Amino acid sequence: MARQLDAATREALVERVRFYRDLGLTEFYRRPVDAALLAAEADETQSAPVYTEAQPPIARPNFFGEEPAISARKSITAPPEIGGAVPASDRAAALQIIRDELGDCTRCALHKGRNKLVFADGDPNARLMFVGEGPGADEDAQGLPFVGRAGQLLNNMIAAMGLKREQVYIANVVKCRPPGNRTPEPDEANTCTPFLFRQIDVVRPQVLVALGATAATYLLGHRQPLAGLRGRVHAFRGMQLIVTYHPAFLLRDPRQKKEAWADLQMAMKELGLSKAATSR
Ligand code: URA
Repeated sequence: MARQLDAATREALVERVRFYRDLGLTEFYRRPVDAALLAAEADETQSAPVYTEAQPPIARPNFFGEEPAISARKSITAPPEIGGAVPASDRAAALQIIRDELGDCTRCALHKGRNKLVFADGDPNARLMFVGEGPGADEDAQGLPFVGRAGQLLNNMIAAMGLKREQVYIANVVKCRPPGNRTPEPDEANTCTPFLFRQIDVVRPQVLVALGATAATYLLGHRQPLAGLRGRVHAFRGMQLIVTYHPAFLLRDPRQKKEAWADLQMAMKELGLSKAATSR
């Protein structure tokens, strides 16, 4: 009987299979195998000439009919990084390098309506990191994430966990305010997230909290209703990812705060934080 994998191992495997799929390797085991071709392969292998470096292989018969159309090789990204940490003493400098590389960014259309680019806020050595969607009007004006009404609520959530805002690291999927606070378009988010991923890899928090569906979608790499993502710990690049509601949503529907608090308690458990006495 097949062994039941625990959720974390399963997630890690899914991530790895996704990586191999990106390399185009799925075809190897998905293509139906023709028994006659296998037999022909075996015959050929038995009489296969021995090649040396100086002697290029002779063109082999093409068992698949026409000359194979060899598509351009895809650019290959590194497999998900596990444990490749920047030393704690170098993290602030490493983050500054990422900020400098962003510069006066014009990589996507969001820069046109931007007042200030919002890079991040908090401790480069934080064990807990929050990822939101994108700056709103207050954040755009101040150049800091989560400083408006939603930010006030996030500060309260952090305090309820027994932490100070300065002890965590906060960033967003996009670093420039989308017009009218709309959800970032995929091309905007995809242009910006490589920088977020680099920030995450430098800080390497133990626990990442995705605030809302946009953060969850771009961190996990697939869209799924929030309900299916909440309530469990996802394996994410060697870290633990927890998905919860966005504070702006909680401002609109405060009844969901109880659910969000359950998510935060899960994060606290992973971090070994005791249940805070502070009120929610
Ligand atoms: N909402 C977000 O997602 N991020 C912010 O920085 C502010 C509000």
